[in-house]
Amino acid sequence: MINLESLLLELSNAPGPSGFENPVREIMKRELSPFVDSLDTDGMGSLIGIKNGPSNSPNIMLSAHMDEVGLLVRYITDEGFIKFQNLGGWLDQAIIGQRWQILTSKRTVLGITGIKTPHVMSTEERGKVFKGENLFLDVGAQNKVDAENRLGIKPGDPIAPVSDATRLNDSEFILGKAWDDRAGLAVLVGVMESVKDSDLPFNICAVATVQEEIGLRGAHTSSYAVNPDIGLNLESGVAGDYPSISQYEAQEKLGDGPAIFLHDSSMLPNLKLRDFVIDTAKASDINLQFNVLSGYGQDGAEMQKSFEGAPAINITVPTRYLHSHNSIISIKDVEKAIGLVRQCILQLNLEKIKNLKNFD
Ligand code: CO
Repeated sequence: MINLESLLLELSNAPGPSGFENPVREIMKRELSPFVDSLDTDGMGSLIGIKNGPSNSPNIMLSAHMDEVGLLVRYITDEGFIKFQNLGGWLDQAIIGQRWQILTSKRTVLGITGIKTPHVMSTEERGKVFKGENLFLDVGAQNKVDAENRLGIKPGDPIAPVSDATRLNDSEFILGKAWDDRAGLAVLVGVMESVKDSDLPFNICAVATVQEEIGLRGAHTSSYAVNPDIGLNLESGVAGDYPSISQYEAQEKLGDGPAIFLHDSSMLPNLKLRDFVIDTAKASDINLQFNVLSGYGQDGAEMQKSFEGAPAINITVPTRYLHSHNSIISIKDVEKAIGLVRQCILQLNLEKIKNLKNFD
């Protein structure tokens, strides 16, 4: 049996900004290989593991993305400070005053996003938000040449947050970076383990995608590689259960089980598939939550739009404080999400798959 907690911690700690997913891909290769018949990468680097059904059988695609929001070296100033480009959706406020790792071809370089000391600020300046274009990383370099030669920093090098994952005060909660979407990857591994001995009438394609945070790019090519008949995307959801966020904005709660998205800015789920997941959760005694979001984009949209189109849905692990150094999930929600997706797979058969794709 996989040790879910240690897998979650390992996945969270692995650095993997968009386009630099290798450390995460290595973990996923190791974890998926015992449960699949083949394991390959597509031309962009998404990992595709297939548990074969009978020949010419439908493809059930499960996907979760490996990349996390990060930064990228834009240029080095003459004084040796690092100016950067955001990779993915950051709030400028979440970037300042944090530790980061620059992943150079030579070594890992620790850096911090310095924040101007309040001692020198006017009252007006203290209330202001700092603009992204004014932010920088301090790596303790003497100057540009030192940053280049001693530390090996080059334009284009990826930069990941530094934030050690840990249980939060002995609760069911785990604190860490990158639960978006390392939580989904843990669900993916857990599901593949849970169905490893099941004889299924279809192929299960377990896909760990790249470059989701910068526009669902890896899911685009991997969906074409797989050609899914049904797509289940496994993501971090948006919890709306803490001060400063409203129920109107997000409806998931930590600890109340997995959720499905009924609307986000990238897709609408297939309604028959929605009802299938709701019925399966009910029959399996798993509490299912719903989320209707105005924003957000996720890989399910690419599965849905590949080739002639496929029913798809996004199944989530509720997450607080996405896209920051410190986000929180409940390990119980991860376990329940694994249970739900497992039951969905076991309930599916050729007739149901045909029916989900039938609009008559
Ligand atoms: Co995500």
